[in-house]
Amino acid sequence: MNACARAVVRAALAAGHQVIGIRRGYQGLLEQDLFVDRERQPLMTLRSVSDWGRHGGTFLRSSRSEEFRTEAGQQRAVQNLAHHGIDALIPIGGDGTFHGAVALARHWDGQIVGCPGTIDNDLVGTDFTIGFSTAVQTAVEAVDKIRDTAESHQRMFLVEVMGRHNGHIALYTAIAAGAETVCIPETTTDIGAIIADLQALRERGKTSVMMLVAEGDEGGGAEVLQQRLQAAGCPFSMRVVVLGHLQRGGSPTPEDRLLASQLGTWAVEAVLAGETGVMVGRVGQRQVLTPFEETYRAHRPIPAELLALVASLAH
Ligand code: F6P
Repeated sequence: MNACARAVVRAALAAGHQVIGIRRGYQGLLEQDLFVDRERQPLMTLRSVSDWGRHGGTFLRSSRSEEFRTEAGQQRAVQNLAHHGIDALIPIGGDGTFHGAVALARHWDGQIVGCPGTIDNDLVGTDFTIGFSTAVQTAVEAVDKIRDTAESHQRMFLVEVMGRHNGHIALYTAIAAGAETVCIPETTTDIGAIIADLQALRERGKTSVMMLVAEGDEGGGAEVLQQRLQAAGCPFSMRVVVLGHLQRGGSPTPEDRLLASQLGTWAVEAVLAGETGVMVGRVGQRQVLTPFEETYRAHRPIPAELLALVASLAH
């Protein structure tokens, strides 16, 4: 997100515009919590964002705002936007952020162009969201390390990753880390079939197993799954690791920095071209604009060929 904010600031300043950084998202807008630099200036400068690209988290901070969900909150946000002479907004976030953008647009006639920033990769209209690559990188590193114990102790590990209602992080991590199996919300978790697969792996001489579990899997998280597998006669000794918020931090991958830099710049270009009510995404190498409602209306499907890859490589 920092790399994206840096790109927005620099592209907008280069085009002759002024930039105000709103801290803590919509809640910060309600509280007029504006970014100020070392000189306590509320306008962002080229130097405000120096060196931002390589840092995880977000210097602008983030929050989940209950107040902004209300009509009164949205009206107050509009008043604050007018008070600061803001005529265009570039929110960076996921579906919650874009639901908020749609609500704001009902009361405000300024332009809103969003950038997809979420580790979940669950938005329609972009191949990847900002943060996904870094989350997968972190998860893969963790699974690689856990595999050492799995191998030496001849165990099976159920590693739970984030992703909310979506299995992208689990699936990409499973393939990259060579996991034997993956449980995601997009597929039915069939305990009997999993046990049969595990028995087949055992018979083929497999001594360790890594199972990636998406937190949103309909069979429950990794803890619940472990209990169900235990009760069904799992042939391996099991342990559970929940990676949790570890996946949301750390220095972003070059891939994420590049994507964020492109999307931030494209968002400014879209504003300058008069666009509003859209998210800017990258599909292939092309810039694509998608109305906010379409980015979250349908569940983003899992690439079927990647799912098949987990099964075909698990031997
Ligand atoms: O949407 C991003 C995400 O990290 C999800 O993967 C996860 O379910 C959720 O946010 C965690 O939210 P919180 O930090 O509010 O617990």
